[in-house]
This record gives sequence, structure tokens and C-alpha cells, in this order.
Amino acid sequence: MLSIRDMQDSDCQPLAEWMVTVPLWQRYGLTVGGAAGQFRAALAHEDVLITADDEEGLPAGFAWMMPKGAFGRSPYLRLIGVRPDRAAQGGGALLLEAIEARAWAVSDVFFLLVSDFNVRAQQFYERHGYTRVGALPDYVVPGVAELIFWKHRAG
Ligand SMILES: CC(C)(COP(=O)(O)OP(=O)(O)OC[C@H]1O[C@@H](n2cnc3c(N)ncnc32)[C@H](O)[C@@H]1OP(=O)(O)O)[C@@H](O)C(=O)NCCC(=O)NCCS
Repeated sequence: MLSIRDMQDSDCQPLAEWMVTVPLWQRYGLTVGGAAGQFRAALAHEDVLITADDEEGLPAGFAWMMPKGAFGRSPYLRLIGVRPDRAAQGGGALLLEAIEARAWAVSDVFFLLVSDFNVRAQQFYERHGYTRVGALPDYVVPGVAELIFWKHRAG
């Protein structure tokens, strides 16, 4: 069972080391130094970053939310990931629900982008109540559209 806590500076390197093994992020050219540096900058910027520890206390997942990252107005899910050996065991759902709780503290809507080829993640978000509302062709890498999804807080 994974357990959620706020991300610490000491998590950045171990998270980055398994992130570069994920095919999605390899396609975006992610490096260990780049990923760790992004996390450190986000922590310094006071974005909301959470980590899911495995039974050994090692970071097996994370989620990163920028409270005004969408249009300078609404929370944006910048990244979410689960270590490949812990995928499809409910860890993604646990992280998504925990980061949503932080988004709902500041807004009634939550935005994210997902790659057009990342069908599994699109299905994951749809199962959790997100709807596709747009597409940004060639926005981050040539030949890939970033799909815009959003969710409204229930009730
Ligand atoms: C997308 C991602 C975060 C989902 O995380 P996850 O931990 O695999 O998600 P969950 O386990 O909650 O749900 C995913 C699957 O596991 C299944 N599942 C959920 N709980 C389960 C359990 N206790 N036992 C077995 N399977 C379970 C779900 O039904 C779902 O199945 P499906 O995809 O075949 O429909 C993860 O796959 C990932 O890190 N992908 C690479 C990075 C990425 O794409 N990030 C998103 C874009 S930034």
C-alpha cells in the first residue's frame, strides 16, 4: 500500500531516476538532471507536489499541481506518475484523488494536458471524471498533440 505525503527535496533525485525509464517521458527527452531540476524549482516556487511512498519509504509515485498554472487562473496538473513496477495497483487513483483535494481547495475546476498517443492515461482521466475540451497540435513536440482535459468539482 502506498502512502501519500508532501514531496521533499530529497525525493527529487530518486523520482527522476525512475522517470527516465518511462517510455512517455523518454519520448519527451527527459533526463535525470532535467527532471530533478524541474521538481526542485517547483518546490522552491511553492507549487503543490506530493509523493507516494512504497513500503520501504521509497518514492513510487508523485503528482505536481500548479495552483494557477492554467491561464494564470485555475489549477493545472503539471505531471503525475507511478513507478512502473507499481502501476495498475491503484496508486495513480490514490495520487490523483489526493492532488484533486488540493486543487478543490483553490478552485472548482482542474485542468491537465495529456499526449494524444497516451491512450491509457486518457482512459485513466476519463474514468476519474475528466472531459476532453481541446487539442494543441505540435505544442510540446512536433507530431504530437497535447489534449486539454478538465474536471469540475462534484456537487
Ligand atoms: C497514468 C498513471 C499515472 C496511472 O497510474 P496507475 O497507478 O497505473 O493507475 P491505477 O492503478 O489507479 O489505474 C490504472 C489501472 O489499474 C487498475 N487498477 C486500479 N486499482 C487496481 C488494483 N487494486 N489492482 C489491480 N488493478 C487495479 C485500473 O482499473 C486501471 O486499469 P486499466 O488501465 O487497465 O483500465 C500511470 O500509468 C503512469 O505513471 N503512466 C506513465 C506516466 C503518465 O502517463 N502520466 C500521465 C500523463 S502526465
